[in-house]
Formats: sequence, C-alpha cells, structure tokens
Amino acid sequence: MSALFQPFELKDVTLRNRIAVPPMCQYMAEEGVPNDWHLSHYAGLARGGAGLVIVEATAVSPEGRITPNCTGLWNDAQAAAFAPIVAAIEAAGAVPGIQIGHAGRKASANRPWDGDDHIAEDDPKGWQTLSPSAIPFGANLPRTPKAMTIADIQRVQADFVAAATRARDLGFQWLELHFAHGYLGQSFFSPHANQRDDQYGGTFENRARFLLETVRAVKQVWPDNLPLTARLGVIEFDGNDEQQLEEAIALAELLKAEGLDFLNVSISFSTPTANVPWGPGFMAPIAERIRTATALPVASAWGIDAPQIAEHTVAQGQLDLVMIGRAHLANPHWPYEAAKALRVKDPSWVLPVPYAHWLERY
Ligand SMILES: Cc1cc2nc3c(=O)[nH]c(=O)nc-3n(C[C@H](O)[C@H](O)[C@H](O)COP(=O)(O)O)c2cc1C
Repeated sequence: MSALFQPFELKDVTLRNRIAVPPMCQYMAEEGVPNDWHLSHYAGLARGGAGLVIVEATAVSPEGRITPNCTGLWNDAQAAAFAPIVAAIEAAGAVPGIQIGHAGRKASANRPWDGDDHIAEDDPKGWQTLSPSAIPFGANLPRTPKAMTIADIQRVQADFVAAATRARDLGFQWLELHFAHGYLGQSFFSPHANQRDDQYGGTFENRARFLLETVRAVKQVWPDNLPLTARLGVIEFDGNDEQQLEEAIALAELLKAEGLDFLNVSISFSTPTANVPWGPGFMAPIAERIRTATALPVASAWGIDAPQIAEHTVAQGQLDLVMIGRAHLANPHWPYEAAKALRVKDPSWVLPVPYAHWLERY
C-alpha cells in the first residue's frame, strides 16, 4: 500500500492523495489579472491527479508583485478572472488552494527570463519597494526599499485580509500565506532584512509580530472549517542554521496558537550569500523536525522528483504532503507516472476518463 496515495484530511478538506502542486509563478498576468494561460495551466495540473493545487504567489497589492506580470487579488476584475480557474481545479478532483503574499524588497523585478533583476529605478515599469528596513537584498536585487511606517504595516495587513476575503468568496479551500523566500513576511522575521528599533524589530517577539498579527487578522475572515496555512522559510544556510531553526520552531508554535493549521516548510532566501545544500529531498528531514517539535502537519518541496523519494518522505512520517514543483512542469501527469512506478493498486487518484481509458490501469 502506498503512503503517497492515501487521502489526507485537514478540517473539512479531503485531498485524494498526498501530492501537492506548490505555488509557481507564471509571470504571465497583465495588471494582476490571470488569463487563458493560467486557466489551461492549472486545469492541466489538476487533471494530472494531484490532491492539492496551490495557485502561484498572488499579490495582495500592486507594489507586492514580484514582477509586473504577477497575479494579484486586490480588485474585482482579478477575482472574476480567478473564478473559472478555481472551478477547473475543482472539476478535475483537486482541491483549489492559493498563496497570497507581498514581495517586499524583492518586488519590482524583471521576469526570470528577462534578467531576474530589479527593474531600473528610472524605468516607469518599476515601483518603490517596501520592507521593514531600508536595506536592499543585494546581488541582482540592489534597489533600496522604503522602510515601512506603522501606517504602511497596517495597510499591508489590511490588504492581506482583503485578498483572503476574495479568495474565500471565490471558493479557494486552502489558503497559504507567503512567509518565505525573502519576501515581506520573511523579511520581518529575518535580521538580514529587519533592523527596526520599534515593536516590529529586534527581539524574536518583535520580529514575529508582523506575521502573528497578519495570521490573526486573516483568521477573522477565513472560514474555520478550511485550512489556514503558511509557507515559512525556516533556514537560510548562512551559518546560523541552528539558531534559525529554533526560532522557526518557536514561531511555528505561536502561529499554531493563532490558529494556523499547516506549515509548508521552506528556505528563507533573505541573503544572497547563503550556501544551500541542494540535493534530492534535502528539506524533508528539516520539515520533519518542525513537524515533530510543533505537532503541526507539514509539507515541503525541493527536489522530491522521484516517486520513491516522495513515497519515503510520507511513509517515514517526515511529510504529510509532498510538494512536487518543477517535475509537474515537466510532466503534468506526474501523479499517474508515480502511481505506476509505485505499483499502486486501486489508487484513489484517476486521470480524467478520456485519458485513463486508453492507459494501463493499476
Ligand atoms: C517557475 C517557478 C515559480 C515559483 N513560484 C513560487 C511561488 O509563487 N511561491 C513560492 O512559494 N514558491 C515558488 N517557487 C518555488 C516552488 O514552489 C518550489 O518550492 C521549488 O520549485 C522547489 O520544488 P521542486 O524542486 O519540486 O521544483 C517557484 C518555483 C518555480 C520553478
């Protein structure tokens, strides 16, 4: 019996298996509005058999986009364009999720295939970035952000609440707050980005404040019966790993106390000088540590391309869900191939019948 192909229940949501598509920006929107590209992309991924499809990092405000072509959820036109995407994911038997976030000091960038660097400051396509402190990320992202005022902080938190409300009204059933990868939430928690001397900086409690307040505010509008989750960078790989992991565990416990149901464990990416030990499934033991310490269910991504590794992480109790990213871009029917490789009998997944009818059944 395959652990990967067991259903997963969290609150009122049941995933047909433990395979999730993590959020992956497509950089194909105009004015934050998704289009036919997004519809066919997400429908295709959901038809491939994953239990959960999380829509890409979607900005809560215009200046929160990574690039001018990122999706947004700050107005009704964007929400209307997301409606058929939610319906298509659900029609294919997957649970529709969305990641909402704010890119902070990494915003106002060119698309990865157009340079992956900050848009030039004199180019009207770009905009003033925001961060806890006026400290640039560096490397390819040298633009100095504006240090957020208390009013800026409150406005962005209200933007998170408004985007969560739109996501709820659209029928998304899984909400992931983006607190990872060096974007705004992560920047508040990281001393690499946060050198404030007010109640939002300095001590652990102060650096955690923005994240805890944001979860508390979103919780007011997100339904109690649906998973409220976050993606959190728990480690930089910059030499302070143990301290960061201990702080991340303490933060996860506080987030849990605020009502967070699940953690997508990831990398912090708050400094360009990190030395990440890339390798197949290298984040799974780290996620397991968070899972054991906090008793929160967890997922993780990063190089879990081989079905046997995915199976192992779930069977060994490292992960509750396995995030399969680039392998899904290479093959949207990755779950079908995984089921074949793992010799799953009578799986709860299926490809849609116009495909499945012609293929080997296990
Ligand atoms: C094209 C692309 C876009 C991505 N966009 C996001 C995103 O919107 N939000 C996020 O948290 N991570 C994003 N990531 C990271 C992925 O969610 C995932 O963690 C990463 O690809 C590692 O998993 P993998 O080895 O299975 O691909 C992106 C990755 C790729 C390749």
